[in-house]
Amino acid sequence: MKENDISLYKNNHIIKNDERLGLFERLNEEYSIRRALYPGSYAHITPIFVFPEVVFNDMYKKLESFYDSDGLFEYVNKRKLYSEEPYYSYINKDFNKILPLEENSFDLLISQYAGFVSRACRRYLKAGGILVVNNSHGDASMASISSEYKFIAVINKHNNNFTYSTRNLDKYFIPKKNIKITEKYLEKHNHGVGYRKSATDYVFKRLS
Ligand SMILES: C[S@@+](CC[C@H](N)C(=O)[O-])C[C@H]1O[C@@H](n2cnc3c(N)ncnc32)[C@H](O)[C@@H]1O
Repeated sequence: MKENDISLYKNNHIIKNDERLGLFERLNEEYSIRRALYPGSYAHITPIFVFPEVVFNDMYKKLESFYDSDGLFEYVNKRKLYSEEPYYSYINKDFNKILPLEENSFDLLISQYAGFVSRACRRYLKAGGILVVNNSHGDASMASISSEYKFIAVINKHNNNFTYSTRNLDKYFIPKKNIKITEKYLEKHNHGVGYRKSATDYVFKRLS
């Protein structure tokens, strides 16, 4: 295997101890997920170790050769936690534009540090499908005010362990300051809101 082929993943995730494997493992334990969509993925390939079909998306042309390489395919085959062959692809496009994907066809939509994925790419998620989102760019806040998503769980990371919980969900998304969270507010600030109680990641279900 050519080390170069996986260097983007190695440098950004393995060396930095930021693979987030447990995040996807917890989701896999709780929900029936086969096909995942990851807009703004950069080189974060960890979901393909857990789910057999993943579409990655970003705006960087250079990622085409990363996702295309034989070395990456070999590496994924070594790391995958399921028996079948992995099936992944990369779309080099702004996720705010229409992506060449079927609507209502994914079991999981992944939003990690990349902007308002929950809103732009909801159309590709099946009704009843799962959104996992952090709040670094305010996207969990965006999902929390959407009538098309239901907040159903949190996932927290402690000492590199990820834990799933459905307890006390009514305690989340309460701002510390007396502000009304709207789409306009989130678009203007473009980062997470300060909440009284927060989690590493939030899990939503697409309602419609
Ligand atoms: C901070 S990186 C996060 C990468 C990865 N999600 C992770 O958690 O490690 C954000 C990525 O989102 C991509 N991104 C931001 N806005 C985008 C858009 N509108 N369409 C496609 N990719 C976008 C950027 O190009 C960048 O690679």
